[in-house]
Amino acid sequence: MGRDLRQGLRQRRAVGGVLAANFEMYDAGDLINVKGNRMSNTVVPFELFSPDYFRDPYSALDWLRENSPVHRYVFPVGNVPMWVVTRYDDAVTILGDPRFSTAEWRGSPEFQASGLSVSAGTVLSQTIPGLDPPQHTKVRRCAMSAFTPRSVDRWREDIRTIVDDTIKDWAPGQERELVAEFAALIPSRVVSTRLGFTLERREQLAGDVDLLISTDPADFPRIPGARERIIAYGRELVALKRAEPGDDLTSAFIRAADEEGRITQDELDALVIIMIIAGVGTTKMFLTNAVLALFDHPGQLKLVADDPGILAGTGVEELLRYESPVASTPWRFPTEDIRIRDQVIAAGEPVMVMVAAANRDPAVFDDPHRLDLTRTGARHLGLGHGIHNCLGAAAARLISEMTLATLVGRFPGLRLAIPREEVRRHEVWALNDYRALPVIL
Ligand code: HEM
Repeated sequence: MGRDLRQGLRQRRAVGGVLAANFEMYDAGDLINVKGNRMSNTVVPFELFSPDYFRDPYSALDWLRENSPVHRYVFPVGNVPMWVVTRYDDAVTILGDPRFSTAEWRGSPEFQASGLSVSAGTVLSQTIPGLDPPQHTKVRRCAMSAFTPRSVDRWREDIRTIVDDTIKDWAPGQERELVAEFAALIPSRVVSTRLGFTLERREQLAGDVDLLISTDPADFPRIPGARERIIAYGRELVALKRAEPGDDLTSAFIRAADEEGRITQDELDALVIIMIIAGVGTTKMFLTNAVLALFDHPGQLKLVADDPGILAGTGVEELLRYESPVASTPWRFPTEDIRIRDQVIAAGEPVMVMVAAANRDPAVFDDPHRLDLTRTGARHLGLGHGIHNCLGAAAARLISEMTLATLVGRFPGLRLAIPREEVRRHEVWALNDYRALPVIL
């Protein structure tokens, strides 16, 4: 039985005492929930989100896309009936359909009781990923002008300084751990500099963000503390910048909010807080995933070493397709019963839109498991789709292009320092995240 499942089971035992035997049925791939209701006839030849799954998620996702594209699944934490969607077309349909809400309060009673909601009862329920129109439109509008490609182009100087400073003592032949010493530092330094953070706060907040977005039940007890610290700091920052505005994002949001005059103090606080949460962890994971993907495709690594400019063209887009850190978008909750293919998704039942599967759908991408930095064609979903698409997309692209180009350009002989099979995924179902990436420069 997988670690997440075991922990989920332990949690349930702690709250209600559920029989392990009910979960053993899962191991056999038989989709019968703990109440004994038959949920689907599809027998799955693997256990979703188990250690085996994380050793090779793409084989499991290929199987689901092929055999059970709208897949009924009972989430072990809280025993919540939900759905796993793996085809590109269905993903696009759901992410573009206003009947699928992102507001956690719309989730089923099982979801509400499960403890899976990280926002309930806090100002995080006012952050844009969890808002529906018209509130979503109103708040997003306050931030949009700060994130156009033109506005973000002004970040270049900061990014260059931060990347150079981070690797100033690095020399060819040295061994470095890329996640902690590089990927985790650069986005948190860039985003916090742009938001107007103080230096000492940014290192502490990066750890809190990692915790908050973790879907590993082992982290659950520490999440409330991290959440409180991030909320408190976001509020403090807004108060500080209101008193002393500067050339930073927080001051820009305050100006837009005051000029528009239509967003509440909570909505403004939540906007700053979501920048801290959404911008830092994702970009950290993406930089790591991108370097690993290049290691797995030496010909593509050489392409970047020979011409780092390829990253700004098609390269970063392909790396986002190949392994976006967002394996599944945040839950979608149907506001009414909705049929997708031959399944009816009942109102409130959470849906995982598996970007990791959709981005490798062979109906849309030729030879989808191959990294091809010159690939053109269909748009990947690595930065989302529909009204909640990544607000920070231009920033994510620019940080990634500049950082990867500098790293590979300066250390063209970059290689993995450990056998490939020892590179471990962080076993969190919603993310493509690796714990560590030791490299030789
Ligand atoms: C490579 C890095 C990044 C990736 C892969 C990424 C991916 C995504 C995805 C897939 C979504 C859509 C979620 C959904 O459908 O519910 C999203 C939303 C969002 N992202 Fe990013 N993101 C990245 C970097 C950033 C950065 C740097 C920022 C800001 C500084 C940012 C801010 C946001 C915000 C605010 C949203 C919510 C938008 C809304 O709900 O309207 N992201 N991101």
